[in-house]
Amino acid sequence: MAKLFFEDTDDEIDLPDGAPIAEACEEAGVPFACTEGVCGTCVIEVTEGMDNLSEFSQAEADFLGDLNCERLACQCKIQGGRVKVKF
Ligand code: FES
Repeated sequence: MAKLFFEDTDDEIDLPDGAPIAEACEEAGVPFACTEGVCGTCVIEVTEGMDNLSEFSQAEADFLGDLNCERLACQCKIQGGRVKVKF
């Protein structure tokens, strides 16, 4: 079981290992539009646990450039452990 923590709301959500984070992020208030990694609406900042997210996708690289602390929530799966985000 993985944990996704939202700094903005202090909410922590349990997710199965390997689950997409989009739905939990949407419920926490992250805005979504295309859900395909194209529009950039769902940008989140990962403040802890970047290694626990799925590999940086080509769609994310195209929109965000080099990997730093930002990810597209519609493209990420949580692999396990704990990930802390803000938006
Ligand atoms: S909703 Fe468009 S990039 Fe994620």
